[in-house]
Amino acid sequence: MQGILRERRILRACVYRFVTIEESRYDQGATKYNPGTEGFYMSLENPVMRALFISLLLFWSLLSPARAQDDASDGCSPDELTRQQETFALYLRLDFAGDAELALANLFRLGALYQSMALDCGYAPNEAEVNVMLERALMFASLDDLIVAQSVGVDVDEILIELDEVYGDPLTGQLLYNGLEPALGGTPLGCAGCHENEAIAPLTAGAWTRIEDIRLRLPQFAGYTHQQFLVESIVRPADYITPDYAAVMPEMYGSQLTIQQLADVVAFLDSQDQLLEGE
Ligand code: HEC
Repeated sequence: MQGILRERRILRACVYRFVTIEESRYDQGATKYNPGTEGFYMSLENPVMRALFISLLLFWSLLSPARAQDDASDGCSPDELTRQQETFALYLRLDFAGDAELALANLFRLGALYQSMALDCGYAPNEAEVNVMLERALMFASLDDLIVAQSVGVDVDEILIELDEVYGDPLTGQLLYNGLEPALGGTPLGCAGCHENEAIAPLTAGAWTRIEDIRLRLPQFAGYTHQQFLVESIVRPADYITPDYAAVMPEMYGSQLTIQQLADVVAFLDSQDQLLEGE
């Protein structure tokens, strides 16, 4: 049961992440989906993510005509949606025997077009439909692969680019940091266990101030942004060992945090702007 709940949570995060990215694209005034640009496509370079998204997109394609409102205007009737889908399918050929790479790209474009039509017509998946998507997605990728595909990894430059598009919530960050909210795969992070005890690790309270007033003034961090220092400290703790402390911080956080969770933890640490002792 626990395992199933874990799967549901992770896959749900995948689904909603996808839907949210789509919606934000509409907020920015985009009228047509462009699979060649922006962060979303970057994640498709990961083969597992690609398999997952394709499965989701195929699902949208089956769903949209059935769910569209009969009386909806501007091409949202089931007949009209089906007609549009058939037209697109005619141009984006799925010739897997001939050119597999192109067929895969077309499959993705097709799914993306179907989905954008569905969203244009005000369609959003309900709970039961999301569950079907999850089942289908699991046919394409194992849960462990999905966890890896969802995690931030340890490439700081890449992470910083992705972080630019994510808004961190300090309250969720605090829950994650204290182990009250599980990270990827259902494991607690346990940051507070070390960082509330000054004998073991630098204190949480005053973290922002310490980084600003002390760390970033060190020659090796010349040109570092605050965020860069934090991200590097979290996903590559061994790159810089704070003086007076042992190198005990675990090195697996890059595989335990989604980009949203990392943004939340960073936002929480950035809220720790208490004065340092002696100031
Ligand atoms: C097992 C104990 C331990 C755990 C768990 C741990 N840390 Fe650390 N952390 C340390 C120690 C010790 C240092 C100082 C030595 C070093 O730089 O690696 C440190 C350094 C840091 C720094 C740099 C602080 C500074 O002032 O330079 C940050 C930021 C940080 N940790 C964040 C986190 C976050 C976020 C988590 C949870 C995701 C976490 N740590 C989990 C022990 C731990």
